[in-house]
Amino acid sequence: MRKILIKNIKGLVQAGEEIPMVLRGAEMADVPLISDAFLALEDGFVVAYGPMSELQGIDDWRDLELIDAEGKYVLPAFCDSHTHTVFARSREEEFVDRINGLTYEDIALKGGGILNSARRLAEMSEDELFDQAMQRIHQLMKYGTGAIEIKSGYGLSVEAEIKMLRVVKRLKENAPIVVKATFLGAHAFPREFKADHRGYIELIKNEMLPKIAEEGLADYIDVFCERNYFSVDEMEEILLEGKKYGLVPKVHVNQFSALGGVAKAVELGALSVDHLEEITDEDIEALKNSNCMPTILPSCSHFLGIPFGDARKMISAGLPVALASDFNPGSTPSGNLGFVWSLACVKMKLTPEEALNALTVNAAYAMGLSESHGKIALGRKTPILMTKQLPSLAYIPYAFGDMHIERIIV
Ligand code: NIG
Ligand code: FE
Repeated sequence: MRKILIKNIKGLVQAGEEIPMVLRGAEMADVPLISDAFLALEDGFVVAYGPMSELQGIDDWRDLELIDAEGKYVLPAFCDSHTHTVFARSREEEFVDRINGLTYEDIALKGGGILNSARRLAEMSEDELFDQAMQRIHQLMKYGTGAIEIKSGYGLSVEAEIKMLRVVKRLKENAPIVVKATFLGAHAFPREFKADHRGYIELIKNEMLPKIAEEGLADYIDVFCERNYFSVDEMEEILLEGKKYGLVPKVHVNQFSALGGVAKAVELGALSVDHLEEITDEDIEALKNSNCMPTILPSCSHFLGIPFGDARKMISAGLPVALASDFNPGSTPSGNLGFVWSLACVKMKLTPEEALNALTVNAAYAMGLSESHGKIALGRKTPILMTKQLPSLAYIPYAFGDMHIERIIV
């Protein structure tokens, strides 16, 4: 048995037996913290924690790893509930095009963007995609990511979508952290279906979905609901078909325009609605009293220079909010959730505590991991982060761009 005792922890964060599955509105402001604490793990399971004064004598030192966390914080690892971590190549030439005045939409209309990534992915082998994605996951773990959702959507053909999802399946089996898979065949209309939306939707429904279900390749189904991409009606048709195979909706909506996709996704039982750079009062009404997690992706806003999601408005309305990276080669070439934490504070005016809850408790919910991730409680196998020596927890989002995580324990 692998036993770990972390002692002298400056602040043990989000450890408790009463932390709810979802934190809504004003509840997001509080993060429990035990000063001068210890945490004991056995084979990754939390077996004891509390103030150092309550630490019992240790009677069996065999196989015990003792960690002194003097001056350091210990917290649950972040959950990244929205990423596109499997991709073939970076797209910095589009970044330069945008610096020179083109918009993300201009680039997509020229055949760049998602279609650019799809052309490259078609040429790359499954093994190479797997190796690259695994390297990325290891890098993201250093930044504190302890669970990750990964979407397809750079395939856009039966063959390539299946290839992507097989890569995600191999990542699930081999990565040190939990991986969830989302089928995003409806990410963009491929060139040959530009004038034949019906044809592509039929391909998704009749060929992609049955194969994906047969091989058990996805947990969730996503659609990019946006002008020039998929309409609300098209999203509904695809999500309904996915639900027949047991895939839960988790969608891209309101990145550039509010088309009514939020209410429709909520109606269809979506676990989360993601992006929300644009939000209407109707969207907020639809989210009230629902089980759907609004998820905001501030690194995407930062990189594309588009508005930041109005998390304050959502929290004031009593809604929960989750944060995720959106790591992908086009709109967000960074999966660093420490940076997301900082952006959420600086640009969205979340307090450090609200943003942390959005990256842990609420993010775990947004990827179906509430039972295991996002908080430290007895009997749970939760990945744990230990920081470097820090003056305070708020120092993490404050001193942006620095690396504050010393170690992740998975
Ligand atoms: O979430 N907006 C849709 N999909 C991705 C970007 C994809 C890309 O540009 O490659 C996103 O931002
Ligand atoms: Fe995305």
